[in-house]
Amino acid sequence: MAFTSPTTSSASAERQAEEQRQIAALAPWFHNLHLPSGEQTLPQHVLGGDFPNFKWQQIRRCIPADLHGWRVLDVGCNAGFYSFELARRGASVLGIDVDPHYLAQARWALAEMGLQDRIEFRQMEVYDLLQSDERFDLVWFMGVFYHLRYPLLALDLLVERTRRLLMFQTLTMPGTLVRPATADCPIDDRTPLLESGWPKMAFIEHRLAGDPTNWWAANHAGVEAMIRSSGLQVLERPGHEMYLCAPDGRDTVARHRALFASQFASICGGARGRG
Ligand SMILES: C[S@@+](CC[C@H](N)C(=O)[O-])C[C@H]1O[C@@H](n2cnc3c(N)ncnc32)[C@H](O)[C@@H]1O
Repeated sequence: MAFTSPTTSSASAERQAEEQRQIAALAPWFHNLHLPSGEQTLPQHVLGGDFPNFKWQQIRRCIPADLHGWRVLDVGCNAGFYSFELARRGASVLGIDVDPHYLAQARWALAEMGLQDRIEFRQMEVYDLLQSDERFDLVWFMGVFYHLRYPLLALDLLVERTRRLLMFQTLTMPGTLVRPATADCPIDDRTPLLESGWPKMAFIEHRLAGDPTNWWAANHAGVEAMIRSSGLQVLERPGHEMYLCAPDGRDTVARHRALFASQFASICGGARGRG
């Protein structure tokens, strides 16, 4: 029979109380992290249930179980839920986010998880990546695209930085129709653009769900078209609004990217000049 001395149990109760105080001090949370102690940071999530663990449960089988030797970029890492999961599979992870509040959560949780040797969290704009050439085996780009004023710039940039896989998720409009014929549209009959399966992105001038940082909502056809146009192919759709992609090395894709190469190079050159 195991005995717990009163001193040991009061020390562990004090540790638990201290962890709860830290969780409260770092609120509000967006990620519900499961800490090694069993504590959770946001068990009752407004997006329903155990977020983002319920999304991860849909994705996890699509990602290699062993990520040793993989360099991962987690864009908009927030409190680090996905960075922690990917590091537990052996990856070396760079998590970036613009928001110091979320990064403080991520850094605190990093120590709690004991994964300091595998993850670095950095305060950065996604566009700051223009100033570096580092490439990543896996780019995690979930929940950020629609928050960006210049979303295609970020996607084109991240595709250039992707060696093997890019996990994409964005807020979408309802519907999954895809119009097959989008090769061209006559100038004097633009009605095809109104069809629900034509690739589209709604601009949100004010708010969506009360949030003024939601700038764009694409339809499913639009998401797939932008992914293709940036030079990726969709390998799998693990769940609603989620697209697991890989670089598409075909010549036709390179020719398509050449159509905007000058614009992209100009932006990259400008950023390097300042950097
Ligand atoms: C909706 S949350 C998604 C968090 C996480 N990626 C996920 O899927 O659960 C959006 C995150 O992206 C960050 N973010 C927004 N704009 C960004 C930008 N321009 N560069 C880097 N991070 C950004 C926010 O601070 C926030 O943590």
